[in-house]
Amino acid sequence: MIRLSPRMEFTLLRLWHAALAGGFVVAYVTGDEDTYRMHVFAGYWVLTALASRLILALLGSATGPLRLPRPSLSAIRAKLAGKPGRNPLFAIMAALLLPALALGAISGVIADGLPAAEDLHEGMVQLGLWLIIAHTAIIAWIFQGKRIRDYLSGGAAAAIMAMLMLPASAQAQAQAADPARAAILAAYAQQAPAPFSAARGEALYLSRNSASPDFASCATCHTTNPTASGRHAKTGRLIDPVAVSANPKRFTDAAKVEERFARDCQTVLGRACTAQEKGDYITFLASR
Ligand code: HEC
Repeated sequence: MIRLSPRMEFTLLRLWHAALAGGFVVAYVTGDEDTYRMHVFAGYWVLTALASRLILALLGSATGPLRLPRPSLSAIRAKLAGKPGRNPLFAIMAALLLPALALGAISGVIADGLPAAEDLHEGMVQLGLWLIIAHTAIIAWIFQGKRIRDYLSGGAAAAIMAMLMLPASAQAQAQAADPARAAILAAYAQQAPAPFSAARGEALYLSRNSASPDFASCATCHTTNPTASGRHAKTGRLIDPVAVSANPKRFTDAAKVEERFARDCQTVLGRACTAQEKGDYITFLASR
């Protein structure tokens, strides 16, 4: 087993802290629908950081900085009696904060597949945020400026981590033309004479037709702003936004895509759409 010096243990702990804090910041500010991929990426980052804390604890010595926080009554009593040593508030805070963040991240994984769990996820994360605020307030109070510079440099490291992660995940997001969507487009491209064009897709989307008096256009149900929720012009039922930016799951289920094209093109145009039209349409909405 490798033996780490206390100094190395402290460095590892700080790096770990920066990774966790940076991941949380990114996940928190990307919680919106249109930065969904980045949000998921940062969420898994947080989860990985939390799991790696357990591994770090195994690497560290029994009494060193990497030891998992263990709040104890005797430590509180010793502190109250004015004895020197680490402030027991650290351990209490960490013992509350780490499980809260873990619950926040895990409920996020669940909500990714089960929209009903979204409220639970938001509640957990909000709890985590309050604990983080309490955590920073307690640290500021304990150090009372004495070691505040150290603490600030930890914060700066977190901010730098966050900045490093943002472009990486933004790029992942741009490239992540979802593989399922890419495959659907590739299949249409094989049957289409020309490369797909978002402009032609938009023209089709907005075009007004006479096949059906009630449904003149795709936009009649999907609305002229594809990032907004649509509404079925007859039944009044809500339709999720069709723009990929607002709804990353769009055009990823080949059977559903085919079925809806068949039905909606017949309704609006009075005929089937060509592979060219389908590819243009998806290309347009993937660019929105
Ligand atoms: C009568 C209302 C209505 C009109 C008009 C309409 N759609 Fe739709 N469309 C729907 C509904 C309802 C769904 C399924 C619900 C959903 O996916 O959120 C849907 C879904 C789709 C999907 C599946 C998207 C996915 O997630 O894979 C495609 C493709 C589609 N529509 C294409 C079109 C095209 C092309 C037009 C115009 C030619 C059009 N729609 C016009 C109601 C409509």
